[in-house]
Amino acid sequence: MHIVRARAENLRLYQSFELLADPRLNLILGPNAAGKTTLLEGLYLLGRAKSFRTSEASELLGPQAQAWNLFAEVENERHLDRLGVGWNGVEQEQRFNGEKARSSALPRALPLQLIDPVGHRLVEEGPGYRRSYLDWGVFHVEPGFYGAWQRYQRCLRQRNQALRQGLNNAAITAWDEELSSSAEQVSELRGGHAEALAEHLGEWVEALLGISDTRVEYLRGWAVDVAYRKVLEDQLPQHRRLGSTTQGPHRAELKLWLAGQKAKGRVSRGQQKLLVAALVLAQCAILIAAGKPPPVILIDDFGAELSAEYQQRFALALMKYPGQIFITAFEMPAALEKLSAAMFHVEHGRLTKVEHE
Ligand SMILES: Nc1ncnc2c1ncn2[C@@H]1O[C@H](COP(=O)(O)OP(=O)(O)O)[C@@H](O)[C@H]1O
Ligand SMILES: [Mg+2]
Repeated sequence: MHIVRARAENLRLYQSFELLADPRLNLILGPNAAGKTTLLEGLYLLGRAKSFRTSEASELLGPQAQAWNLFAEVENERHLDRLGVGWNGVEQEQRFNGEKARSSALPRALPLQLIDPVGHRLVEEGPGYRRSYLDWGVFHVEPGFYGAWQRYQRCLRQRNQALRQGLNNAAITAWDEELSSSAEQVSELRGGHAEALAEHLGEWVEALLGISDTRVEYLRGWAVDVAYRKVLEDQLPQHRRLGSTTQGPHRAELKLWLAGQKAKGRVSRGQQKLLVAALVLAQCAILIAAGKPPPVILIDDFGAELSAEYQQRFALALMKYPGQIFITAFEMPAALEKLSAAMFHVEHGRLTKVEHE
């Protein structure tokens, strides 16, 4: 699976761009504010149906334009899928092979991961970042996950609304059966993925950071050895008082330990970035082991925060990656000089291919 071609119209500073991509490695070089991150943002939008920089589709609109559009041709098992995302000033729409599609149709056709300088949020900030990271992987390997997760979200919303409105017990507990069955399913699938992660992560942390003892701890969001149904029953008075269901998969957490210490708050910026890279590469390895195609990896500002030695380790790890990679950088990083790659130059929102001599 790889992006063959991507095209954008009126995306931020780009009037348009067209990218004919290499199936393996693509390097995009250019000065500050040239449009490097925006290019990756466009590819990310095609695989995630949302941006990693903003939740406002209007922010992506270029000057004097009424709509922005993105298209990609993605080769999947020797056929081409056509993906589209657009915003017309009112709403965002996804298209898959010519038909209007739900936003979940895009990630299935274009699984894609990002490693960027703000990726350290995954290590440093609240558990929500780690839940979405975990869920991306579970979504791709467990066909039942998306439905269970949607059911859980819906029932949780309804139950919380009933709690806030102070409705009677029957109106609240009416949600408990479906809420608890979907919660147990979501948690079990997440737990399985966390176990697989624990198996794969150590190897990548060792390769990237040279640290040999990595531990992953998954907390499902409520007490161990208690059925979620029981928590909902026992905690009802407290939930009533707080107007919210305070335990459950929406409170799950993934804790990371390196060399016997919690990663959060202990590792440097450069280490954080490589830890994120290790998390991404480990998760991609899980997908590959499950028979899925290797996800596309986007890396923004390759060298930022990294010493020459860390850049070298990062480049070595990427060389072994079997899927498509897009890397942006200010100038050619020494660690990548010897690799064979398609090269692009971007400046003032103009993308050009650099032909090899
Ligand atoms: N909606 C927009 N319309 C026009 N220009 C924009 C828009 N959003 C951002 N920009 C401009 O794009 C430039 C940043 O692009 P970016 O892709 O982040 O550059 P790089 O990653 O190469 O440093 C900035 O000059 C910014 O002002
Ligand atoms: Mg940038």
